[in-house]
Amino acid sequence: MTNYSFPQDFVWGTATSAYQIEGSPTADGAGRSIWHRFSHTPGNTWLDQTGDIACDHYRRYKDDVAIMAELGTNAYRFSISWPRIFPQGIGNLNQKGIDFYSRLVDELLARNIKPNATLYHWDLPEALDDRGGWLNRDIADWFCDYAVTMWGALGDRVEMWSTLNEPWVVTDGGYLSGVLAPGHANLFEAPIATHNLLRAHGMAVEQFRSTAASQRGKIGITVNLEPKYPATDSPEDLDAVRRADAYMNRQYLDPVFRGHYPEELREIFGEAWPEWPDEDMRLIKQPIDFLGINYYTRKVERFHPDMLPLRTKHVPQPQHIQTETHWEVFPEALTRLLEWVTERYGRPPIYITENGAAFYDPPHTIDGKIDDPLRVDYYRQHLRAAHDALAKGVDLRGYYAWSLLDNYEWSLGYSKRFGIVHVDYSTQQRTIKSSGRFYSSVIASKGAVLGG
Ligand code: FCB
Repeated sequence: MTNYSFPQDFVWGTATSAYQIEGSPTADGAGRSIWHRFSHTPGNTWLDQTGDIACDHYRRYKDDVAIMAELGTNAYRFSISWPRIFPQGIGNLNQKGIDFYSRLVDELLARNIKPNATLYHWDLPEALDDRGGWLNRDIADWFCDYAVTMWGALGDRVEMWSTLNEPWVVTDGGYLSGVLAPGHANLFEAPIATHNLLRAHGMAVEQFRSTAASQRGKIGITVNLEPKYPATDSPEDLDAVRRADAYMNRQYLDPVFRGHYPEELREIFGEAWPEWPDEDMRLIKQPIDFLGINYYTRKVERFHPDMLPLRTKHVPQPQHIQTETHWEVFPEALTRLLEWVTERYGRPPIYITENGAAFYDPPHTIDGKIDDPLRVDYYRQHLRAAHDALAKGVDLRGYYAWSLLDNYEWSLGYSKRFGIVHVDYSTQQRTIKSSGRFYSSVIASKGAVLGG
């Protein structure tokens, strides 16, 4: 039997994002975001659901921080809604938006919970989308102005900053498939959005170094990674995996750590993939202090000539449990992934910034309880896999469960529950699920209960 023991200073957190939990998206002078527009356009989301109320965290944040404390977590990853700070994206500052995050940070610190703030988790100000959004090169400057404002406001108290959450999803969902805001489906736009996301990231990291916030804070980026496995050993399938891996796992990390895009992107995008100036690539390759990795699943891929632009098709693996979002539960891939990143990118300090699962939970509690054994098992297996990576020399510093609360799962609305805390949306009552209790016992025992 393995002995599980995480380091004394390991970071144990939960994660959320602004649009998914806050509600009141236009309160106190905030501007509208692209998610507000997208979710209010009929046909885009499950039952046309929106983040208008969500978990009402904007007003209940104190109760939610109390739950984090009850769980015994020592960190919390949240995102800042850009249009609460700059209602038009640039220009006039909305002090009330800053005040909200400032109150949240103070509440966290009063409970010894370390704030970890993400500057961009998908809710772009609508006014900037009207100027082209991520397709406009100027967005790097707009993003920096916003970032510098936040470092000025919270940099004395927040020690961990992420520029972007999952740029791959921003581009793939927002500009290539169109299933996420702003809902474009355009092969020629996707590479441009990718490049401007990375330029915004690089420019912000560069600027961070000259702010007072960098005296006490660290900066990184958060990417979602999915190890790709070939369906067979045929050359076509191995090639398909190479493309899928480049597109999802190396598209953002190679530029950030190595200063160039994977060659496969030209093969994938063809004439839609432009040449980028060397100075852009130099800007993008800024040293970062840590890497955030969101991990949920792996994918088995096979060659499929009609599935453009990647020419790969995902092969479901019915022998394993699938979550409600049809993601295969495959914890070994997490260990493998962390080792791969460590080897390829020079052993960066890593935080698992999201990991978790949607399983069906009843909408109301039964006898005041929510028992979610599949989610408990998911956490047990993935925390073991994270520990295996530590034992193999990965510089893993922390883990954040996605998510603290059941919340608004983007286009899937409230149909998928990822929380370790149940939310009854009709009363806003919170109930810690068995998985929340389990996570709490892992934290209290520094991992020892994982051996049981
Ligand atoms: C990630 C997102 C997060 C949430 C989870 C389930 O891709 O970062 O907002 O939707 O998936």
